[in-house]
Amino acid sequence: MTDDTKKPTRRSQAWFGRQDRDGFIYRSWVKNRGIPHDQFDGRPVIGICNTYSELTPCNSHFRALAEQVKIGIWEAGGFPLEFPVMSLGETLLRPTAMLYRNLASMDVEESIRANPLDGVVLLMGCDKTTPALLMGAASVDVPTIGVSGGPMLSGKYRGRELGSGTGVWQMSEDVRAGKMSQEEFFEAESCMHRSHGHCMTMGTASTMASMVEALGVGLPHNAAIPAVDARRNVLARNAGRRIVQMVEEDLVLSKILTRQAFENAIRVNAAIGGSTNAVIHLLAIAGRIGIDLDLKDWDDIGQKLPCLLDLQPSGKFLMEDFYYAGGLPAVIRQLESVIDKTALTANGKTLWENCQDAPNWNEEVIRSFDKPFKEAAGIAILKGNLAPDGAVIKPSAATPALLKHRGRAVVFENSDDLHRRIDDENLDVDETCVLVLKNCGPKGYPGMAEAGNMPLPPKVLRKGITDMVRVSDARMSGTAYGTVVLHVSPEAAAGGPLALVQNGDFIELDVEARKLHLDVSEEELARRRAQWQKPELPPQMQRGWVKLYVDHVQQANQGADLDFLVGKSGPYVPKDNH
Ligand code: FES
Ligand code: MG
Repeated sequence: MTDDTKKPTRRSQAWFGRQDRDGFIYRSWVKNRGIPHDQFDGRPVIGICNTYSELTPCNSHFRALAEQVKIGIWEAGGFPLEFPVMSLGETLLRPTAMLYRNLASMDVEESIRANPLDGVVLLMGCDKTTPALLMGAASVDVPTIGVSGGPMLSGKYRGRELGSGTGVWQMSEDVRAGKMSQEEFFEAESCMHRSHGHCMTMGTASTMASMVEALGVGLPHNAAIPAVDARRNVLARNAGRRIVQMVEEDLVLSKILTRQAFENAIRVNAAIGGSTNAVIHLLAIAGRIGIDLDLKDWDDIGQKLPCLLDLQPSGKFLMEDFYYAGGLPAVIRQLESVIDKTALTANGKTLWENCQDAPNWNEEVIRSFDKPFKEAAGIAILKGNLAPDGAVIKPSAATPALLKHRGRAVVFENSDDLHRRIDDENLDVDETCVLVLKNCGPKGYPGMAEAGNMPLPPKVLRKGITDMVRVSDARMSGTAYGTVVLHVSPEAAAGGPLALVQNGDFIELDVEARKLHLDVSEEELARRRAQWQKPELPPQMQRGWVKLYVDHVQQANQGADLDFLVGKSGPYVPKDNH
């Protein structure tokens, strides 16, 4: 008999190492598919946390990827056990995949903790699957390695490249302006997404895959190897081998997700022209693992840094080009003067050790630190009476001339109002106006929709204008672009000043001064606040998960996690199940 009061050396042995009735139960059912008895001898038991789903097209190859991870785990002497978790597909989920990020993270956290796992491999692809899995794993804090699914091959349409998302925003404006036919639009659908993988622009999925690598949770080249490139399978297999060693070294996630790692990730986000969504996700991950990170860190650490990567949506190339040019290690090598060289990564080396000799095969795609693609391209954090707790803008995706702009507000109360009126020829708007959208934040939408890159009014588009200043409490797809102020906090539905903006008010944006100002007197704002009524959610949204979410979600400047999910409770489970 083992002494059950003694803390086992290996977590899984608290289940599989038992000689009693419970040990029988823990082992016997697992043996039902032909697992021999010696498999329970105390070797590392590794969970493969799989977000495979046909409803998440970007993760549709994850069964094959999991098999590669398994081979690696067997090769290294571990015992792999694959399990599914809630998968979040960006394109199909309504009202927005972000409404479910925290729910999926709860599934991940509890699935890891409640099971006999010594370490875990996270299979992540489509946008929200990456933060959801990292958040859940961070709250358990066992040895963890991330494997991203990889981007799709470049879209090809009538002799030109077509980038995920980015091309849709462009072409749909062309259709609305009468420059593209409906038939051409349909044809482009099959041309844009023609292989397994996630969006192949530097959208949120590619950004988050880069964050996995920059944080040190993934192996070198996790960010950019195309999903269907054989080397993606090699990476998965190597991750399987490596996690077994990580368990033996007790290299838990909190040894990797340090303050230094987050700072490096913020720098890398600037250098790749990464998605604004990374701001919210990294804040949430840091909150789980217990690292003090706030919105201002993004500006202080990253804003002045240049963008080195000429990738859509900020530039022209795609993820496939990025990998062939040298991938993320080649970018990180360029950051020598700013990177923290002590940050440890999953392979046991520091981030710098992994990247210091990385070659750059195409200096058109990956520029040098001294001759960057764009100067001062990191995310900027705006403040002012319109966003007392901050707002976010990605200057590298904006029109330089609009970064300082004062304009008359054209206000939409919510996304329905926007869709109802934006195409109206009688809408009182011109290109100097500022489009304002309310009630698309965490509580308001609910779930914080990617609605911030509002379509431009057709009469403006017909003049050949392609950008206007837009302000909202929404997010924006990482594949989108424009002079778009996002994540205004507090949001309108939480009674933030955004709720008080009216048609005809003047709004001043000054990115250089980090200012977002509503030119309305305090007295007038107080008068409007006294009359403000909190918008009601439809009845279908007043129960179940959505109710729990709306009651507990924090604002965007804090990462939009649920208040009671912040922090971690570690891997220990105090009780047996009988
Ligand atoms: Fe899945 Fe873009 S829709 S990554
Ligand atoms: Mg997206």
